[in-house]
Amino acid sequence: MAELASKEKKKIQKKIQQLRAEIKRHDHLYYRDSRPEISDFEYDCLKNELLHFESLLPEAAGILGVGDDRSGNLLTRKHYVPMLSLENTYNLDDVFDFGARIRRLLATEKDIEYVVEPKIDGLAVNLIYENGQLKYALTRGNGFEGDDVTDNVKTIEGLPLHIEDVHHLIEIRGEVYMDCEIFQKINTERAQMGEAIFANARNLASGTLKLMDSEMVRSRHLKILLYGIGEGNNWEKQSEIYSFLQERGFASQIYYHIVTNLDDSAAIIRELDGERKRLPYTTDGVVFKVNDRALQEQLGATAKAPRWAFAYKFEPERAETILRNVTFQVGRTGVVTPVAELDPVNLSGSRVARATLHNADDVAKKDIRIGDTVIVEKSGEIIPAVVGVKLENRPECGLEKLNFPTNCPCCSARLIRLPSEVAWRCPNADCPEQIVQKIVYFTSKTAMDIDGFGEAVVRKLVEIGRVKTPADIYMLKKEDLYQMENFGDKSVNRLLSNREHSKKTELWRLINGLGIPLIGEKIAKDLANYFRHWNALAVASVDDLGRIRGVGQKVAQSIFDYFRDPKNLDLLEQLQKIGLEFEEISAEYNPHFAKKIFALTGTLQEFTRGQAKALIEKNGGSVSNSLSVAVDVLVAGADPGQKMDAAREKNIPVWTETDFIANLSAVRKEA
Ligand code: IVH
Repeated sequence: MAELASKEKKKIQKKIQQLRAEIKRHDHLYYRDSRPEISDFEYDCLKNELLHFESLLPEAAGILGVGDDRSGNLLTRKHYVPMLSLENTYNLDDVFDFGARIRRLLATEKDIEYVVEPKIDGLAVNLIYENGQLKYALTRGNGFEGDDVTDNVKTIEGLPLHIEDVHHLIEIRGEVYMDCEIFQKINTERAQMGEAIFANARNLASGTLKLMDSEMVRSRHLKILLYGIGEGNNWEKQSEIYSFLQERGFASQIYYHIVTNLDDSAAIIRELDGERKRLPYTTDGVVFKVNDRALQEQLGATAKAPRWAFAYKFEPERAETILRNVTFQVGRTGVVTPVAELDPVNLSGSRVARATLHNADDVAKKDIRIGDTVIVEKSGEIIPAVVGVKLENRPECGLEKLNFPTNCPCCSARLIRLPSEVAWRCPNADCPEQIVQKIVYFTSKTAMDIDGFGEAVVRKLVEIGRVKTPADIYMLKKEDLYQMENFGDKSVNRLLSNREHSKKTELWRLINGLGIPLIGEKIAKDLANYFRHWNALAVASVDDLGRIRGVGQKVAQSIFDYFRDPKNLDLLEQLQKIGLEFEEISAEYNPHFAKKIFALTGTLQEFTRGQAKALIEKNGGSVSNSLSVAVDVLVAGADPGQKMDAAREKNIPVWTETDFIANLSAVRKEA
């Protein structure tokens, strides 16, 4: 390359500095905070841009680390063998170049066997087994040391805590992820509660893995797929590692092919791209690994990534369109969300005319204006999102900066922002839009399930002043309903019969439907299961509430406060007068289990841990992972662990498996 003029060099140097700072900031947001602001694709583009500028100015090239996910509030521990990253590309031609490079490095013209597998969009963990026992689970951290997340990883179902006949120290590596289905469920609940939703399953999995409360982690059902060995790798082929993991009972297996060369890589990528929609986890690409371990060793690694593996990444589905308007939506808890109204475009097979703009900060940062050409993306997210703006398409005359409202678009109350939140909220409990959304939620499928009260009907009823609280739904007369558009005898009767039907339902439906801040379907079910009657829930102390699995301090306080607000007590009294009746979740009331907290240790002969837990819960108890003073009973199977000694020390009653079975059948006997 011709000598660069010094002015030019300075410009490039500055660009390199800017890009490095920008990448570092995004690394922090992604790895440490699990809260990325840009998509993976945008991030990879930044990295490529940096590589490009660095190639123009080799003297300025620096080493880009592998990122750093250490959160700063967990203990850290070193990996025996560093955890590297993968070189990746979005370009199919590069796949052949990788192949050619590998042949060149190995000085061979022969075919090389590859294992081809999905690239899982989760977060990397290192499981350290000593003498066959799972001793530590660490995140990748900075590649050399990671956060200790052992207790949380142990909650993953199907992950063997012991592997037979492996006596040497072994590091098994893989990806922790969250099933798409569970992700959607949690996000839907969060959105309904007015909390910020997670952009994708990866962020939620990563945030979950770093929680302090292992019981909360358990309730989120993380999963794991394993794809490599660090220390203790004495297999001859990569594929043998997968057979070994399968034999030793690692629950789910990575889906892989073996190919004898890369000639058909385009076809394989296409096949996996088609397959991935059916996989229960999000994949963001395809990983190619040299199968022969001796060749892997020979190829070695750079400071960042092994030379024997690389990834082809799928481009997210995105499209350009014009932003026609921005509307502001008020949710049932008052959160105001900006929504993009777009010229419709096709994206991942559906027509997209609206997309979320997340929050005011995001809009300001991206400097999105009405009339702009924007980029809409749908990748693993449930809701399409505006991820960027094409400034070069902005008309020369300019466009007006977008103003986020300072007042509620519905009731004009001044919006407020709590210090710990990104969201702006309408503080007015009488805000008509909040009332509409609250009632729509109350009648929805995950609450009282009164079919027929859709948003349009509720809006009209609120508008004409017939409905203000959920109790008003039950006061509606036939005449009120005839005022609804297109409502004839048939629809009115159906609605009234649905409403009647909803009076006898499960307790959790009411608890969820009330819209107590921070309570969603899952906690509502746990609360109903534990308290059995809403009166018991209403008088529970913060301490009582805190004893329930999955209920932390903040949630306990929120429930407590709700039942101290006279307005809410009025509502409950009205509902009671209406004659709501609740079915018990469990038909059996078993005094040996009801409201008690159990811990388990040792091996039970008759039940798996999961079965024992389900039985305890069915009988009205709950199960704690650790033996704290809150535990009422320890159930001890064969070869009990340290929990047994601890229980004796703390004077916690211990049941043998025979006691456990006897107490389980007690209901039937005593009945
Ligand atoms: S092998 C030494 N296989 O992608 C290289 N990694 O972008 C070890 N990942 O840090 C990685 N699926 O967290 C490998 N099938 C797979 C993978 C995979 C996802 C992750 C892993 C890695 C990152 C690099």
